[in-house]
This record gives sequence, structure tokens and C-alpha cells, in this order.
Amino acid sequence: METKEDILILAIESSCDETAASVVKNGRGVLSNIISSQIELHTLYGGVVPEIASRKHIEKINQVIEEALVGAGVTLEDITAIAVTYGPGLVGALLVGVSAAKAISFAAQKPLVGVHHIEGHISANYIENQELEPPFVCLVVSGGHTHLVVVKDYGEYDIVGCTRDDAAGEAFDKVARTLGLGYPGGPKIDSLSREGDPDAIKFPRAKVVGSDYDFSFSGLKSAVLNYLNSCEMKGIEVNEADVAASFQKAVIDVLVRHSLNAVGEYGFNKFAIAGGVASNSSLRAAFETECGKRNIKFYHPSPIYCTDNAAMIGVAGYYEYIRGTRSGYDLNAIPNLRLGER
Ligand code: KG4
Ligand code: ZN
Repeated sequence: METKEDILILAIESSCDETAASVVKNGRGVLSNIISSQIELHTLYGGVVPEIASRKHIEKINQVIEEALVGAGVTLEDITAIAVTYGPGLVGALLVGVSAAKAISFAAQKPLVGVHHIEGHISANYIENQELEPPFVCLVVSGGHTHLVVVKDYGEYDIVGCTRDDAAGEAFDKVARTLGLGYPGGPKIDSLSREGDPDAIKFPRAKVVGSDYDFSFSGLKSAVLNYLNSCEMKGIEVNEADVAASFQKAVIDVLVRHSLNAVGEYGFNKFAIAGGVASNSSLRAAFETECGKRNIKFYHPSPIYCTDNAAMIGVAGYYEYIRGTRSGYDLNAIPNLRLGER
């Protein structure tokens, strides 16, 4: 039962291909988490088509918000503030959520809090790990981002590493497309890899000159492509499960090495993962093992909170709200918003 002292955040997320709304109580209690995925629609085209994404968000957004309120057993009256993802992401997609949030905030006279999408992904870890508090190191691996972040405090971040080219999820999606597995590629490679040998093919583990923590995945993607082409030219039959497993291992090796170096350097003994790729079963297993060896406490959200959702935006929105963050009705979608920037 909700009381007057409870802080209830209505959160909205529409940065890519999921239209989502959620009600979050006192920062860590998810009362509802509604996600309307467009994946099937975009699968037809082999990836997200921005114009189609925006149109679908418009069709779905009111229904999804309504369902989130009903599912939480609350009305707009009970809501303390409206949180919304305003970047980074697809501009047309973001604008749908931002416009809806502004309209509700204005009509219901509730404060508006703009949230950074990556701050949302990181905050997903607080939902099922009530004891987790900053500081800790977090690896954010999604379709658009690969960031190693030092979470200094709620809302305070230092990016210590990021990708120089493709994001980890993007590499999964591109390699999956090359193998003819379809979109989104991450889950397909994840399951195909279980039937393959991760040591069958030696794909490169890229080092970025001058940085211990930055990543590069475009060379790996090309190496997979070259391998497949050379097999075709030589008339060698390709074992797709071996390719998937070997590619996946190459990505995971680099993610694990850089992350654990960062945890070693910053010394919090607490490490979390976030973003769509964080639901990868082998990645989770590798971190479980390596963190266990080093006595580092390892945190990860359930898969439903790894991929895009609004509950994570509600959690981040709560911590921004209690820090005093407020957005005006001039809040705009910022496609390339940087973490820690307002
Ligand atoms: O966080 P997310 O839903 O959206 C972005 O903010 O980008 O991440 C989507 C990405 C896609 O690239 C998808 O292929 C990848 O996460 N992904 C996975 C898995 N599930 C989703 N990658 C590897 N293994 C998975 N099990
Ligand atoms: Zn995301």
C-alpha cells in the first residue's frame, strides 16, 4: 500500500525500438514494467528503421503509460514526478517519449525529470540488489554503447573507457547478420554458441594504443567476415556454431580483461554489468568466475532489466529527483547526449 510519503516515479522510455513505461516506488520498488517491443517489425528489415520506430512509438505510447499506471494500481494523482529518457538514442523515437512526458507533467502539474539512457541501464542494477550502493565500476554494453564507467555516487559518473568504433551489441548484430541469423543478433549468437567450440578459431583481441580501457570491435567483425570469405573461396564448409562461439569468446575476453583491470585500479571490489549484451549467458558466467577468483562482488540485472525498459529509467529518475534535478518544458531530445552532461 502506498502512503503520502512514498515517492512514485512514472517513467517513460522510447529511445530505440521499445515503447516502455513503469511506476517505481522509492527508487527500488518496481510496481509495473510495461514493454511494447517492435523487434518483430524491425526484423523484417534486418535492423531498426528509425522512421518506423517513431511511428510505432506514437501508436503505442498512451496505451503503455495507461497500462503502467493501472498495473501499479495508482492514478496520475498519486505520482510524484515524471521521468523520461531524453538521450542518447534515435531523435524521432526519443521525441515521442519526451513529448508525452512533458504533456503529462504539464496537465497533471507534476515535476519533470530528464534521464540519461545509460544512467538508466546502470541503475537497473539497484532493482534486484537492494544492498548495492555507489561507488562501483560498471560495464555498460548495449547495441549503441560500450562504456566502462566509475559510478562515484548517484548521478555522478566518470567514463574511463569506451569503444573507438562499434559497440559490443552492434558487433553481435553485424556478425549475426553475416551468418544469416537475423536481428537482433545477440540472443541468436548467445544460443548458437552453446553448440560451438569457443577455441576453434583464433579471432583477434584488439588493443587500443594509448588506452588500457578503450575498446575496438570493428577489426574483429572484419576478421569474422574474412574468415567466412576465405572458407567460401577454399570451398571449406563453415561450422557456424564454432564461428559464433569463437567470436563471442573474443568479445568477452576483452570486456572481462578491461573491466577487471578497472576494478583493480579503482579498488571498490564491486562490479556491475548493464545493457542488452549484459544478458549474454557466457559473459555473465565469465564475470562470475573471474570476479569470484578475485573476491570482487559481481552484480547484474535479470535479462528483462538488461535490455531497454522504463523501470531502469524510473530508478535513475528517482535518484535524480531526490538530488533536485528538474527539467523544464523546453526539455528536448538529445541524440548524442553524453553521460554526466545536462
Ligand atoms: O540495451 P539494449 O536493449 O538497447 C540499446 O540501448 O542499445 O541492447 C540491445 C543490444 C542488441 O545489440 C542485442 O543484440 C544485444 O543487446 N543483446 C545481446 C543479448 N541480448 C541482447 N547480446 C549478446 N547476448 C545476448 N544474450
Ligand atoms: Zn539501451
